[in-house]
Amino acid sequence: MTAAAAHGLLAPTNKLRLGTFGTNVEGGPALTTIPTRLRTEWSQVRALAITADRMGLDAIVPVARWRGHGGAHNTHGSTFDTFTWAAGVGAVTQRAQVFSTCHMPAVHPVVAAKQLATIDHITGGRAGVNTVGGWLRPELEMFGAPMLEHDRRYDLADEWTRILRSLWAEDEFDFDGDFFTIRRGFSEPKPVGRPPIMNAGGSERGRLYAARYADMAFVLLTGDDLASQREQVQSLKRLARDEFDRDIQVWTSAYLVCRDTVAEAERYLSWYADEHGDVEAADSALRTMSVESEVLGAQRWQQVRRGFIAGAGGVPLVGTPEMITARLAELSGIGIDGCLLVCAEWEPELDRLDRTVLPLLEQAGLRAPR
Ligand SMILES: Cc1cc2nc3c(=O)[nH]c(=O)nc-3n(C[C@H](O)[C@H](O)[C@H](O)COP(=O)(O)O)c2cc1C
Repeated sequence: MTAAAAHGLLAPTNKLRLGTFGTNVEGGPALTTIPTRLRTEWSQVRALAITADRMGLDAIVPVARWRGHGGAHNTHGSTFDTFTWAAGVGAVTQRAQVFSTCHMPAVHPVVAAKQLATIDHITGGRAGVNTVGGWLRPELEMFGAPMLEHDRRYDLADEWTRILRSLWAEDEFDFDGDFFTIRRGFSEPKPVGRPPIMNAGGSERGRLYAARYADMAFVLLTGDDLASQREQVQSLKRLARDEFDRDIQVWTSAYLVCRDTVAEAERYLSWYADEHGDVEAADSALRTMSVESEVLGAQRWQQVRRGFIAGAGGVPLVGTPEMITARLAELSGIGIDGCLLVCAEWEPELDRLDRTVLPLLEQAGLRAPR
């Protein structure tokens, strides 16, 4: 574990790490119908990964989705598989940590361990895994088994993760659990490094899982004041330290609209998220999420809908480069270690980030000079 602590995302190279989120799904992953949204076309997706890597972004993280949210557009219906996508992205990038997002009930840990080890070899030690328990019932039911009750999904996740780690660390082992039975568990080659585990569980049980296993745990920042957001971040770090004697990174996600003026940024946001937002898809996803997960109370529905359409419910980074830098500095100040970005039109947005925000973040000491 100490050897891995020195490299990749686990190294303290950048105080505030940045990454892209969801460039394997159509819309990527904003719920917008603008004609210039990201498509599942390899040339586009590949170019985007190369851009993010060249800019020095630290992580490239896909969304695991098996079917769309229905309605007229069936947004998120078209998605690249995250493991084979990561192998392709890993082969054309040099520095970024390339994650595979894995629905643990859908992928056997023996298969996942080998796929991730293979990606780790392709990338020279840059693989990572974002473990998800699943909440979108129609997609998990496609696998022919009833979806488990919420906390049982985390019982399965617990077994799954322990098996994954054993496959990476041990020569041979047996495992007898409620969900998995492993006889003479074996996987070679081992990964080059130790691929970091990312998790975005938001419920009490999800937070416990993340505190126990994740190197990077996500918070969906709620509450309007900085003090309560700080407590959200710090309580997760405390949980990991107090219960499991672990220091973990806490990450969040954000949608990015960077323009010369606030008015311009707001106008653009309104164009892609209000005029062209797929409200039907958002309501369908939020309805399922409020039933199947504990991160979303029904009372917050209206409040979160626009953010969900604009960029997976993340923090709005909408404004001038200076405003965006100040907000990111604020997030770093409350203990956020990394932030995954969502853009409606990726290439031009990343280009603006590169030219205007990244230099300011470097000046502020939040990111190392490139
Ligand atoms: C940044 C982020 C990324 C996520 N990625 C996925 C994903 O790719 N696929 C998925 O089914 N769920 C994804 N989720 C949902 C979470 O894994 C988790 O199921 C959800 O937050 C509910 O938490 P709970 O299961 O603890 O109630 C993501 C959530 C966040 C905040």
